[in-house]
Amino acid sequence: MACLDLSDVTTAVDIAAGGGTLAAAMLATNPQLTVTLFDLPHVIEHTRHELDLPPGQESRCHWTGGDFFSAVPGDAELYLLKSVLHDWDSEKCLEILGHCRTAMPGDARLLVIERLLSEDPVSDTLVARLDIHMMAVNGGRERRLVEYRDLLDRSGFSLHSVSNSKSGFTILEAVPS
Ligand SMILES: C[S@@+](CC[C@H](N)C(=O)[O-])C[C@H]1O[C@@H](n2cnc3c(N)ncnc32)[C@H](O)[C@@H]1O
Repeated sequence: MACLDLSDVTTAVDIAAGGGTLAAAMLATNPQLTVTLFDLPHVIEHTRHELDLPPGQESRCHWTGGDFFSAVPGDAELYLLKSVLHDWDSEKCLEILGHCRTAMPGDARLLVIERLLSEDPVSDTLVARLDIHMMAVNGGRERRLVEYRDLLDRSGFSLHSVSNSKSGFTILEAVPS
């Protein structure tokens, strides 16, 4: 996890953790870290069964099934939303972010990890093609940086920093405003 320095974090919630790849990578490289994997109950059951973590990492996992349109787990230092907001239209994104904001302590941080649409889509056809895919498959969409900033602003966050990973994802770090 070269692109994520989590050395000062002891508790994190991976919202919509899916197959647990991100959580597993964070646990492997941060021995001080405990991660709550949160997703729909049947997804959590499946991932808990399938994710083959070494005992020293499994003991630092918490598994929570739920619906991010109702509530997300509270009391963590760091919240992560990777490849989640692009599944949804802006109104649904505001609901998800609003529940994160409600659950988060005032000094917690949120990392939104997504591929960003370039200001010039012709120069970046991968994300432009993903945008069409997201729209066709489930009504979601890829977004430009300015659009993520707007969603964050409207749900009680301030965009604090932006960094790019080698894999093409951008990490937007936000704090409660
Ligand atoms: C595109 S996947 C991203 C998974 C993971 N974050 C990743 O980067 O691989 C979206 C995830 O959102 C979860 N999800 C969809 N609706 C949800 C809901 N209402 N509450 C919680 N999780 C939900 C899905 O089960 C799925 O795991």
